[in-house]
Amino acid sequence: MNRKPLVAGNWKMNKTAAEARELVSKLSAPLREITDVEKVLCPPFMSIPAMHALLDTSHGIGLGAQNMHWEEKGAFTGEIAANMVKEFCNYIILGHSERRAYFGESDETVNRKLRAALKFDLIPIVCVGETLDQYESGLTAEVVRRQIKQGFAEIDSAAASRIVVAYEPVWAIGTGKASSGENANAVHGKVIRPALSELFGENNAQAIRILYGGSVTASNASEFFAMSDIDGALVGSASLKADEFVAITKAAQASMR
Ligand code: PGA
Repeated sequence: MNRKPLVAGNWKMNKTAAEARELVSKLSAPLREITDVEKVLCPPFMSIPAMHALLDTSHGIGLGAQNMHWEEKGAFTGEIAANMVKEFCNYIILGHSERRAYFGESDETVNRKLRAALKFDLIPIVCVGETLDQYESGLTAEVVRRQIKQGFAEIDSAAASRIVVAYEPVWAIGTGKASSGENANAVHGKVIRPALSELFGENNAQAIRILYGGSVTASNASEFFAMSDIDGALVGSASLKADEFVAITKAAQASMR
């Protein structure tokens, strides 16, 4: 199964719109040269319209938001709905561990958001991953399996192949301590894809891309992209530096050859 690699930058709560424009001006030309890789930038909401205006389709760079609400509209102060995201973006990050840890997101709310995202034709990047405690207690498989089974409940198999999963062990996020390629590959191939297969059938599960995230840098990216069940990366802090993000995307391209 040929799965096109995807490299997404999660800018988190970094960059004003002016700073975002500056970073995009450094990224757009080199990223345009990198073919065979899907490239996605996920800035804060406030920068999305400005970036949308700068990046026309000839840049081959997708735009994504980092969160949304599951309802379509209404009295939800401070929230953004899927169709509002869709006006500017094709991708949406859902269930990031920071949203789960600091903003009370659960597998159930992730599931509601996922269904809303699919309804509005967004490509969801759904994050799963165990905490350090869970990792040290040997609970990785159990936790990640539950996140997949509950987060992906009642999703139509026909839509499932559009979903992207990001395996991000919480202990590797922002810590500089990435998982090893082999450890991540085992979670992707032995836990996540089998759980997806139970839900959507083997063919659909084989089409779903599973990214690794957690302290990915230009120096360790190739180790991940060389793995058979790792289909790209969700990059946090290294996506804020143009050179690093370009180098990571190039490493994904090189893994295609
Ligand atoms: P990091 O973040 O690359 O800074 O570890 C990854 C993420 O949270 O998506």
